[in-house]
Parts: sequence; C-alpha cells; structure tokens
Amino acid sequence: MDAFNYRNGQLFAEDVNIDDLAQRVGTPMYVYSRKTLEGHYDRLAQAFAEVDPIICYSIKSCGNIHLCKLLADRGAGMDVVSGGELYRAQLAGASMSKVVYAGVGKTDAEIRQAIEAKIGWFNIESEAEFENIAAIAKQMGAKANGALRVNPDVADPKTHAKTATGKKETKFGVDIERARRFFEHYGRDKHLRLNAIHLHIGSPIYSAEPYVLAITKALELIDELRKQGHEITALDIGGGFAADYESSAAPEAATYAKDIIPLLHPFKKAGGTIILEPGRTIAANSGVLIGRVQYIKMGGSKKFVIVDTGMHHLIRPTLYDAFHFIWPTKVAPMHVPTGRSKTMTQQGLETSDIVGPICESGDFLAKDRPLPPVARGDLLCVFTAGAYGMVMSSNYNAVPRPPEVLVDGSKATLIRKREVYEDLVAAERTTTAV
Ligand code: LLP
Repeated sequence: MDAFNYRNGQLFAEDVNIDDLAQRVGTPMYVYSRKTLEGHYDRLAQAFAEVDPIICYSIKSCGNIHLCKLLADRGAGMDVVSGGELYRAQLAGASMSKVVYAGVGKTDAEIRQAIEAKIGWFNIESEAEFENIAAIAKQMGAKANGALRVNPDVADPKTHAKTATGKKETKFGVDIERARRFFEHYGRDKHLRLNAIHLHIGSPIYSAEPYVLAITKALELIDELRKQGHEITALDIGGGFAADYESSAAPEAATYAKDIIPLLHPFKKAGGTIILEPGRTIAANSGVLIGRVQYIKMGGSKKFVIVDTGMHHLIRPTLYDAFHFIWPTKVAPMHVPTGRSKTMTQQGLETSDIVGPICESGDFLAKDRPLPPVARGDLLCVFTAGAYGMVMSSNYNAVPRPPEVLVDGSKATLIRKREVYEDLVAAERTTTAV
C-alpha cells in the first residue's frame, strides 16, 4: 500500500518522523514517499512487462516536477492534457516521443507547442479537433500522430458520476460507429496520421472487467480498420487503475494485468505498441496531507474537529464524497490502526466531523468519522492524498497553498515551498492598459 506507517504510536513517512517534520516545515503540508511512488510504478511496469507498454504517467494526478522526474528517470512517458502539463513533462525530462496529449479543448497555441515538442500522439476527441490539428501540422510542415479516442460505452458501477467517462453520454471521444466513419474520412491524412486507438473508461475502476470489455471492443474495431487498409500501430488503454483509500481496496497491478494481457498479446506480437496512462494508482498512496487541529467545537450533538487544512487543499471529499482515511499522527498503543477503513472498531474512539477553516459548509475532509481523542495542536494525517490532492488545490479564501515535501529514506526535501501572501497577489501587482 504505502510507506506511511506507525512506529510505537508515531507516524513515519519512510524513516522520517512526521511530527518532527511538521515542526521544521509547518502545517499544513503534503508529504510524499519516494519508495511508494517508485514502488507502484515498478509493480505496474513488471505486471505488464510481457507487453512492454509505454507507461505514460498521468500528470494531472500529481504534477510536481520532482516527482515526475523520478518517474521519467525510470522510463515513464507522460499523459498530458494541457500546454502547462506538457511544460511540466519537459521540465521533468520526459522523452517527448512517449508523451500522449488528451483533452477535448486543445487550443491552437497548445497544439503548436506539442507539435514543436514532437510528442508521441495526440489523443483525438472529435472531428473538429482532428481537422484543426491536421491543418496546423500542415501549416507547420510537420507530421504528427493521432490516436482516436473511442468511447466503448462501458463503465464501472463503482466509479463516481463525475469521474466516469466511458459511457456514450460524455464529452469524451467518439462512439464505435462514429469511429468507423472517422477513419473513412480522416484515416489517410498525411500530416496527422491516424494510426492508434485510445480508450479511457473512467477513474477509479476497481476491477479488470470493464477494461476487458472495452479492449475487446477496441480490438474488434482495429481488426475491421486494418481490413480496410488502415495501419493501426498503437493501442492506448488509458488510466483508471484504483488506489488503496482503504486497506487492500484496490486490485494489485498484477490482478488487472492477468486479465488484460492475454487480450493485448496478439496485438503486441504483431508489432503493436501498448500505452497505459496511470495516475492515481501510482500517486495516490504516495502522498499524505498533514494538518494541525486548531479547535474542537460542539454544534448541537455534533463534534467538529477544526483543522488548518480543508477543501482548498483537498477537494475530493466534498466534490466526490470521496473517502480518505484520517488519523492522528501520534496515538496511544491501543489506537495504532491495524488497517485503514471506514469502520474502525477500537475502544475509545469518538465520532467527529473533520472540517477546515473555509467559509462554506462543504468544507469538510470527513463526516461522522471515528477518531481517537484529539486536542488542539495535535496533527492529523489525511492518507492517500497524493493523487488529485495538491493539483486540485486553490487559494480560495486567500489561503496560501501548502508546501510539498519528498521523503527518501531518512531524508526530507522541500520540493515546493509554502506559498506566502505575496504569491497571492503577485499577478495583480502591475496593471496594464489592454
Ligand atoms: N487518462 C485520461 C485520458 C484521463 O482523463 C485520466 C484521468 C487518466 C488517464 C488518469 O486516471 P487515473 O489513473 O489517475 O485514475 N479528480 C478525480 C479524478 C479525475 C480523473 C480525470 N482523468 C478524482 O480526484 O478522483
């Protein structure tokens, strides 16, 4: 799962005592474990080794360039959805031929930037977008590769409505019928070579089955397209593998691979390239958010634990009703958690809402949550916060964003400094007539 564990009632990130770290860095803070990040990447690479995929780490899940660099150094490509993410991929030193660029609204400037960078593939979301990228490539006298994003019309019933993408009624991709016409129409363009299929069915997906259904449909389509003379050289199966928000909730990489690899094998053997776009499964368990208890307050019969972090630093609980295990960083022996779960059964736990300082009733990290007794000044750890945590944070209520710290064994490095008030107003300091 990860390298955030208790030793004698004290939480450690690898070999770093979290309370000592908070003393030095302050709170709130995001803390990442190198061992966990690389371990998840390596397990995925190993699990799929038989089909030797390009693993394009999904930068949107956690984009700190130092973390991206660790993955790029291990051979990861990057999945980007904006010019800014492409910039991050470049700074991280990722190989541009291993970059895929998805997203329904790529601008002309972003398209030019990606063509200049010579990225691997544009994931194509619509006819209008294809025409635009092809026209820009032609103007630039360049050649680019396109992977048509096909919407296979499958979904995992456990995926939250806001993060399901594989059904017909989403803004992403085109359905299979339209994909056939797409290739008929655009499949022979000289500047944007449509030579791959892209899938992404949602996130998180808690079993291999939806992938099996989607890939089966994609392979049938590829067969048909090949018969019509189209050259399909790559199949990108997207991201979405789950993470352990609760202990052992997510299937192992090998469990997904066991069912998926046999399907991909013939395509690979015939010279095809397989692409994966994992984000959460690599990043989520690699990071935690640490906050300090400010006040305890009763409201009717409810107890509120008010911390110095909240929806502005981790929006997932309020946006998706997402569960993050939260526990004090220092506990009595009887309260050392034996696992992370929604229902903790140790004696002496108290039920509280864990809330932040933001002026919205939606500003909570957990509701009706069993917790060991906590007091003002204690630290709480929000686990599995590495993916879609810091990247979705904001300055709402003019609160500076937290720093990010990378732990490697007993070493801790500040990889993003804490914002200060001046950062909040820096872009407003000069005004310009326009
Ligand atoms: N590829 C594409 C085209 C995607 O849209 C996504 C995620 C991924 C790959 C990576 O998915 P992952 O492996 O991380 O599940 N903010 C939400 C998740 C949004 C996912 C958006 N797309 C959350 O916090 O749950």
